[in-house]
Amino acid sequence: MKKTVALLALLLVQASYAEDQMELGKSVYMQLCVACHQPTGAGLPPVFPPLTQTEYVVGSPERFAAMILKGVMGPITVKDMPYNNMMPPQEALLTDSKIAAAITYVRASFGNTAPAVAPEVVAAARAKFADRKTSWTEADLKAWPDAGASAAK
Ligand code: HEC
Repeated sequence: MKKTVALLALLLVQASYAEDQMELGKSVYMQLCVACHQPTGAGLPPVFPPLTQTEYVVGSPERFAAMILKGVMGPITVKDMPYNNMMPPQEALLTDSKIAAAITYVRASFGNTAPAVAPEVVAAARAKFADRKTSWTEADLKAWPDAGASAAK
């Protein structure tokens, strides 16, 4: 009985944590990402790419975190459409929690069904790439060791 209660409490805590992450993520998205990727996540081709079931959104959580931290520089092909623009780095502006929440929100919105991303994943990417000064190129992103991890089913 005690165990059941403890388990239920744990599940409730986890559920409300996930809800908080979605709420925070939506607010970060609506303040920042929306200007380029639009409220529906459809982007503005051929200038800003969509976030709808792209390999970068539903693939490796570490890679997604690293992209928000350091930014991305084109050329890059997303869903068969070439882009050649810049996504600005956010490492000096956003906390690990805010980045994790924004990524979690995107991975669970716009038709995406990929799992949530914890702030620890962002913190680890921040530490791992602390010395990197430049944004990622398509070649960097394609060569990511766990590029396809946790892809949408
Ligand atoms: C100032 C415009 C701008 C902002 C703000 C911005 N992005 Fe981007 N983003 C881009 C551009 C442009 C690219 C494509 C890279 C290129 O052309 O160099 C891109 C690429 C991406 C990609 C990889 C390609 C794809 O479509 O799957 C993801 C994922 C992404 N952005 C997510 C985000 C998220 C999440 C935020 C908010 C935290 C954000 N972006 C904020 C402009 C922006």
